Amino acid sequence: LDNGLALTPPMGWLTWERFRCITDCKTYPSECISEDLIKRTVDMMVIEGYRDAGYDYVGIDDCWLEKTRGPDGRMVPDRERFPSGMNALADYIHSRGLKFGIYQDYGNLTCAGYPGVLGSEQLDVDTFVSWDVDYIKLDGCYINATEMDSGYPAFGKLLNDSGRPILYSCSWPAYQEDIKMMPDYASIAHHCNLWRNWDDIDDSWWSLERIMDWFGDNQERLAPHAGPGHWNDPDMLLIGNFGLSEDQARVQMAVWAVLAAPLLISADLATMKPEFKSILLNRDILAVDQDPMGKQGLRVYKEKKIAIWTRELFDGSYAVAFVSHRTDGAAYVFRYKLKDFKLPEQIYDVQDLYKEESNRSVGPNEEFAVKLNPTGVKFYKFIPRSTEKVRTNEVVIID
Ligand code: GLA
Repeated sequence: LDNGLALTPPMGWLTWERFRCITDCKTYPSECISEDLIKRTVDMMVIEGYRDAGYDYVGIDDCWLEKTRGPDGRMVPDRERFPSGMNALADYIHSRGLKFGIYQDYGNLTCAGYPGVLGSEQLDVDTFVSWDVDYIKLDGCYINATEMDSGYPAFGKLLNDSGRPILYSCSWPAYQEDIKMMPDYASIAHHCNLWRNWDDIDDSWWSLERIMDWFGDNQERLAPHAGPGHWNDPDMLLIGNFGLSEDQARVQMAVWAVLAAPLLISADLATMKPEFKSILLNRDILAVDQDPMGKQGLRVYKEKKIAIWTRELFDGSYAVAFVSHRTDGAAYVFRYKLKDFKLPEQIYDVQDLYKEESNRSVGPNEEFAVKLNPTGVKFYKFIPRSTEKVRTNEVVIID
């Protein structure tokens, strides 16, 4: 969508994966969907450096509404959980240099059963604009997926006509993929800044693997539609929650960066362990995700439960992630040549983006040895060296 927004993949924080539809603030005071949770998160984003690393949207997902609209037909935020109202919350967010995201649904109801926008589209856009909203995730429960090809553009036109720059996140293709209808990704990219392609992510390695497999298996028809202003969205980051090991969290960060994916943290920043925080704040990896060329990378190799993902960057270098889906014991060394992962045959200086290995180099026909933990990753930047000299058969050894 050419609205001047999301020239690189959006970054921020979103409630859903971690906080779901927790509405009982008496029993779960620090986890319920409420203005307290949002304000606490905003504070942490500023203090802990997430904002300065580029995570600038703070989003409320489902379960923020009252179950019925007001007498004037307007959406009413839950009175107990958002007692100060959305304008006050928006002011809080904006005053800390962040932007305000919110969830709605194109159907009659949201997925969790709160009133959707259908029949109230103009009023709801006006309301969001009056609340100074910067980002709308429009879900697709309780509406026929075949109607989305016209419905999502129609809602997007109302957003555009409002005059306020509002990032538009669509769930349009996710529902069409679900019923095996081929989404029109060219139209989706024309009308949306980002779009959920497929299933919801859950807090497990199993869920993460399914999503990576699906994006790899379907990359030919997805990747060409990503670019500045319009991105495929494999869903939120699990990093910092319960289900992923540190190695697995590194896998998600690396593959999301290769996919030019939106980076939406969904975790409790107050209890984030330092090892996960350092993954989320790894500047070199964020730079890969945010590469200005905006070219989505591809899975170029998948054998023996090893996947290799590469992404071409604006400066002519490549991000290369070697991902192990193996579980058979620790620390295997695998050896590859450039042609195995389809990089142009030249000499590269190679940097480990997780900074555990020292720099090395590799050239055509040389073996590149990669030591991989079970369900772990090595993530490198391959920087072409401008030189005439071509070395041959020099084996590069780590450790
Ligand atoms: C759907 C979406 C999720 C989340 C929930 C909220 O499942 O795909 O990301 O927004 O609805 O109910």
